Amino acid sequence: MDAVLEKSEFKQPKRLRGLQPTLIRQFFERALPDSINFGLGEPDLPTPDFMRREAARIAVEEQNGYTSHPGLPALRKLIGQQYPHLDLGLSDVVVTCGSQEAMTAAFLSIVDEGDDVLLPNPSFPAYDACVRIAQGNPNYYRLPADRDFAFDISNFRSQITDRTKAAVVISPSNPTGKVLTPEDLKNIADALKGTGIFLISDEIYSDLYFTERPHSASEFYDKTIIVSGLSKSLSMTGWRLGWAASKVAEAMRGIHVLHGFTTVCASAITQKASLLGWTDEAEAFKAHAREVYQKRGNFLVGLFKSEMGLNATSPEGAFYTMLDVRELGDDVEVAEKCLRNRVITVPGIAFGDEAKGFLRISFCNTEDRMVEGVRRMKNALQ
Ligand SMILES: Cc1ncc(COP(=O)(O)O)c(C=O)c1O
Repeated sequence: MDAVLEKSEFKQPKRLRGLQPTLIRQFFERALPDSINFGLGEPDLPTPDFMRREAARIAVEEQNGYTSHPGLPALRKLIGQQYPHLDLGLSDVVVTCGSQEAMTAAFLSIVDEGDDVLLPNPSFPAYDACVRIAQGNPNYYRLPADRDFAFDISNFRSQITDRTKAAVVISPSNPTGKVLTPEDLKNIADALKGTGIFLISDEIYSDLYFTERPHSASEFYDKTIIVSGLSKSLSMTGWRLGWAASKVAEAMRGIHVLHGFTTVCASAITQKASLLGWTDEAEAFKAHAREVYQKRGNFLVGLFKSEMGLNATSPEGAFYTMLDVRELGDDVEVAEKCLRNRVITVPGIAFGDEAKGFLRISFCNTEDRMVEGVRRMKNALQ
C-alpha cells in the first residue's frame, strides 16, 4: 500500500518546476469583452491573399504527407539565401513550427545542466523559461531604461563568466522596439571572441524595421544561431513557420534531432505555401507592413504625449513601444486599472526588472482603435 502511495506522489520533473504562463498571457486571458488590445504582439494586418490562396490550393489539390524532418529542400534553400554572408548549405537550416520551436531547440541543443545563459533585461519571457527547461541558469545584461533601453556593451561584458554557455540578442527587440547597431554587434562579437560562447540571434522582427534593415549578429560572430520565421513579417502567426539557421554544425545537428522527435516536421501545407515568402509579392507586403507599423508607432507615441503627457520610447522596428508610467505608480497596478477599463497592456516587470515602471504597448491596431485605447487609459489613470 505504502509503495502504491509513494508511486502516486507525482513530482514534476525539475526542468518544469516554477514555470508558469507569462504575465502577457495572464493579462490577455482576463480581458473584458471589447477590450482594446495593446497587449499581444500579434500582427493585425491580414495574411496576404496570395499566401492564403496558395495554401488553400495545396490543401485541395495535393497530397500532404510528412516532409523530411528539417523541411522541404526548396524552402531551406530560400531561407539559406537570406543570409548570403554565411553561404549556408541545406544541412545548415532546419524549418520549425514557428521561431519559438527553433529557440527552444537551440537552447536544448547547447545548454547543459548548470550552464549560464546571458539574456537581455528586459526581454521576451520565453527565453528565461526555455533556459530553465534546458536546466540552465538565466543571467541578465541590462538595457538601461534611463538610456531608452539602448544596448550597453560594458554591462554585457561585465556579465560574462566562465560558466556562460550562450547569450541571446534580439533586434528589433521585443519589448523595446530598439535595433542593435552594427557597432553594438561588433562590440558583442569582440566580447565573445575566443570564449566559445554561442550567440542565439532572435531575428523574428528583422523585416519590420523603420530606418535601415537591421544587421544580423551572424555577420559579426561565427558561433551564431539565427532563429527567425514568417509569423510577424507576413502576418502568419498561426501558420507556424520558423527556422534555425547556422554554420555551427554541432548545434544544428542537435536542433535537427530534437525537431524530428518533437514535431517530425512543420506543416507540409504551410511549408509549401511559404515558398512564396520571398517573392516580389511577399517583399511588397513586408514593405507595406513596415510602412503601416512605423506610421502607427509614431502616431501612438504622439498620442500618449499629447493626451496623457507621458513619454514612450520611439520605435525603431517591430511593433512595440515602452510607455513610461513611473509617475502613475506601480506598473502592475497601472496595467490592472487599464484592464478594468478594457485596455490590455503588459506591465514592464513581465520582461524583467529593468522595465519596471513601464508598460509594453503593442501597436497592432488601427489608428481609431488606438485613439479609443488611449482615451480609455486616460479615463482609468487620471
Ligand atoms: C521575441 C520573439 N521571439 C519569438 C517569438 C515566437 O514567434 P513564432 O513562434 O510565431 O515565430 C515571438 C512571438 O511573440 C517573439 O516576440
